[in-house]
Amino acid sequence: MPAIVFHSQKGGTGKTTGSLSTAAALAHKGHKTLLIDLDSQGDSGRGLGIEPSNDSSIAAMFFDQKSAKDIILKDVRPGLDLLPGSIQLENLEREISTMGEGLGLALFSTALTPVFEEYEYVIIDTRSEPSPLTSAAIMSCNHLVIPTELGLYQVQAMVNTLGYVGSISIALGKLKSVGVLISQYDKTAALHSTFLDIVDSIIRKEGDTKEVVEKVRVPVHRFEQVIRQTKSLDNAAASREDVISHRKNSHGAVDYLGFAEEMKTRFSNG
Ligand SMILES: Nc1ncnc2c1ncn2[C@@H]1O[C@H](COP(=O)(O)OP(=O)(O)OP(=O)(O)O)[C@@H](O)[C@H]1O
Ligand SMILES: [Mg+2]
Repeated sequence: MPAIVFHSQKGGTGKTTGSLSTAAALAHKGHKTLLIDLDSQGDSGRGLGIEPSNDSSIAAMFFDQKSAKDIILKDVRPGLDLLPGSIQLENLEREISTMGEGLGLALFSTALTPVFEEYEYVIIDTRSEPSPLTSAAIMSCNHLVIPTELGLYQVQAMVNTLGYVGSISIALGKLKSVGVLISQYDKTAALHSTFLDIVDSIIRKEGDTKEVVEKVRVPVHRFEQVIRQTKSLDNAAASREDVISHRKNSHGAVDYLGFAEEMKTRFSNG
């Protein structure tokens, strides 16, 4: 049961679109999947037509002593369960900041990770700001996906995200790999192929970002499947549907189905 967290320290890189579409793609392929939203904006659920409510995020497990089973929404799509986000996550973040990182980790290990065992895949969406809940998620998951667009600021944000991951006590965690997922790719844009080469050289630990990548302490790779720039993902979100249910032959659906397949192969050992 691989647990995979999507995180990037830049807003709008495709964390929510990526985690939601990947979870939908895995469920579509017949794998029992849990999607967890750790962002108080609650967009992962919203994108599936489910408005956030205060008593349904993991914050309710902490503040209202609910169990994961009380709040997980079953079969929001065939084979896909959802643990939604809510504004109450802000209070949980503050609580963990006050009481220490251990609280976030304890919440995961006692209340959440036992539930992971009931699924073939667990996918977690995070907010872009560094937060104690995001750190706990990274330490409690097996794999981290960093979605990035191709541009100067975007690639710098990818490096900053790798720096953040390196600063977390990964040695204590379960993380086995970090994978960069290229989002919003346009093969006709010359700058995109230039920045794709730059991303690859950073991952090969070349140049002055070498130390940042070395500090990550688990293997860093780039997924071969790239996600093309496509209106289909915005259209699906506007219809409150995942892109595979919305239009299975669209670029967004085809690319995320391909990404899910690559993930299955790469993470076949957990
Ligand atoms: N491949 C793509 N092509 C075109 N648009 C895309 C693509 N992927 C995502 N988008 C659009 O980009 C916008 C930002 O995506 P998304 O909300 O997934 O990013 P995010 O990283 O979760 O943002 P935040 O940091 O605010 O949580 C959305 O409007 C989404 O539909
Ligand atoms: Mg998001």
